[in-house]
Amino acid sequence: MKKNILIVPGDGIGQEVTAVGKKVLDKIAAKFNHQFNYDEALIGHVAIEATGNPLPDESLEKMKKSDAVLFGAVGHPKYDNDPSAKVRPEQGLLKMRKELGLYANLRPIKLFDELLSASSIKPEILKGADILFFRELTGDVYFGKRERIDGGNTAYDTMIYSKFEVERIARRAFDAAMTRGKKLMSVDKANVLESSRLWRETILEVAKDYPEVELEHQFVDAAAMILIKDPKRFDVVVTGNLFGDILTDEASQIAGSMGMLASASIGDGTGVYEPIHGSAHDITGKGVANPLASILSAALLLDISFGLKEESNAVINAVDAVLKAGFRTRDIADATTPADKILGTTAMGEEVLSRL
Ligand code: IPM
Ligand code: MG
Repeated sequence: MKKNILIVPGDGIGQEVTAVGKKVLDKIAAKFNHQFNYDEALIGHVAIEATGNPLPDESLEKMKKSDAVLFGAVGHPKYDNDPSAKVRPEQGLLKMRKELGLYANLRPIKLFDELLSASSIKPEILKGADILFFRELTGDVYFGKRERIDGGNTAYDTMIYSKFEVERIARRAFDAAMTRGKKLMSVDKANVLESSRLWRETILEVAKDYPEVELEHQFVDAAAMILIKDPKRFDVVVTGNLFGDILTDEASQIAGSMGMLASASIGDGTGVYEPIHGSAHDITGKGVANPLASILSAALLLDISFGLKEESNAVINAVDAVLKAGFRTRDIADATTPADKILGTTAMGEEVLSRL
């Protein structure tokens, strides 16, 4: 198979982990006789520094033309402490999602058994948890009208959804539920928000086409609670952009660390694959970032964008084997991990590569 993959490392540890994800793709190409061609593009703070624009047109064009994008992270502490900054790295990410029509963000939460003790949740509560989140990614309060009024002393953001937006993500989630445990939880705040009442109404309509799927509705506050209390109760979850952002960070603790979680952002065109973690400037340049989320993102890319199931499983199995062999990055190590098994970014990548 011949494919063009665009590598978009972005900021902070995005650079470090994406380099490892790319090596894994390379190894897969060699092993399974595929030809992957690579190009790179800028986004985020590094793009602002180079061009003044968090998503230069050139980057967007390259994304649209590629067969898949392996993405790192965006962000820089400089902007977090400057709420008045007009140009921000995150704008690049949001524009990419909107322009590429990436309305469905898949965030699988799967716990590798070896990492049971890395989570702060009790092992007996966790064991067997396997959740697939569908976070809507191009609507909601992320893209609604926002403004400062009253001489800057009042601000508002608009939570807005249209029926077609809910319907298309719902269908993706119901389809996925049919291939898994046939259970879908829709998360909203329909007891308060009108946009959530539209959300729920639409989910109920789509549900008529999936009579085999057991549908459950939860308010987001209750869902947040159940996630920690009884994570095994979840199979597929569908929710809006903001609730999905928050719940998936929470759910990352089920998998032991944010450093383990990969995601796929898909729509009708090029898919984008990225760790759910951010740019983590506190550990940038130290060589300690966990590359497994980027590696698992590469696995999702192979599976979802290229249909290469066997190749994708080979990557996942290699990660599993490395964990079974006892290797850990700092974030997933615990008091029982011997010092010589705690690896940095590159060394962890090498362990995975050598098992491919
Ligand atoms: C994510 C991130 C982004 C989001 C930020 C960086 C804008 O937290 O991908 O989950 O809120 O969507
Ligand atoms: Mg987030």
